[in-house]
Amino acid sequence: MKLVVGNWKMYPKTLSAGKKIAEAIKKNGTRAHLRGRRGQIKVVLCPPACFVAPLLGQLKRSPIAVGAQNAFITDEGAFTGEISPAALKDLGVAYVILGHSERRALGEDDTVVAQKIIAAVKANLKVILCVGEHVRDDAGTYFTEVGKELRASLAGLPKSETKHLIIAYEPIWAIGAKALRAALPKDFREMSIFIRRNLVDRFGKKAGFAIPILYGGSVDDRNAEGFLSLGGADGFLVGRASLDAEKFSRIIMAAQNSR
Ligand code: 13P
Repeated sequence: MKLVVGNWKMYPKTLSAGKKIAEAIKKNGTRAHLRGRRGQIKVVLCPPACFVAPLLGQLKRSPIAVGAQNAFITDEGAFTGEISPAALKDLGVAYVILGHSERRALGEDDTVVAQKIIAAVKANLKVILCVGEHVRDDAGTYFTEVGKELRASLAGLPKSETKHLIIAYEPIWAIGAKALRAALPKDFREMSIFIRRNLVDRFGKKAGFAIPILYGGSVDDRNAEGFLSLGGADGFLVGRASLDAEKFSRIIMAAQNSR
């Protein structure tokens, strides 16, 4: 199955604009779901937290799932401003993005990410764990950086819970409007082999091979196909292009058409 996830970050600025984008994606995404074989593709929209509930209502009878961009390390307590994973699940949220580099840049470390992952899987949410290096150097230290991040973020996660786990490889240098470029499909392939080996070492062959590895970082409707066919991506975590219904729909179609 290919997974196509839209991370809207803090956009759009109004609910009405978000609903418009979601409606257009719903139309095209539903077509892709219907056209493909059952279970061939899954589309998930992760809007800003305050838009999660209304979008869940809007997308209720569609195959498009709604995800959250964050959840806290515990289900309850006096933690002003935090989001309970259990409450997200109760709303109907299926996925949560954790360990995104933009949250790590705000101070979230591997220990917190690991705690959040445990709490999220306990609440029965599927976790999209983001990992990625700051820069690519010739010495290959980016492998060490990603390996360390992966191991530390997954500390304490039992093998029995890996069915809830998805990894998104998002090289930080490729994310956002200021990025020089997206990674190349070969960059992704190389890193996904490394990530896969780490997952197999950690969880064993069967569980390690079953965990999807997505690519994220300047994915658009022009480069998506290459990541699927040459890179072997199991799908995408899309930022900017997921706010453009036409572009995002073309990315969905690329995933639907790939094997
Ligand atoms: P862009 O697709 O805008 O580069 O963002 C990637 C990202 O951070 C998705 O989580």
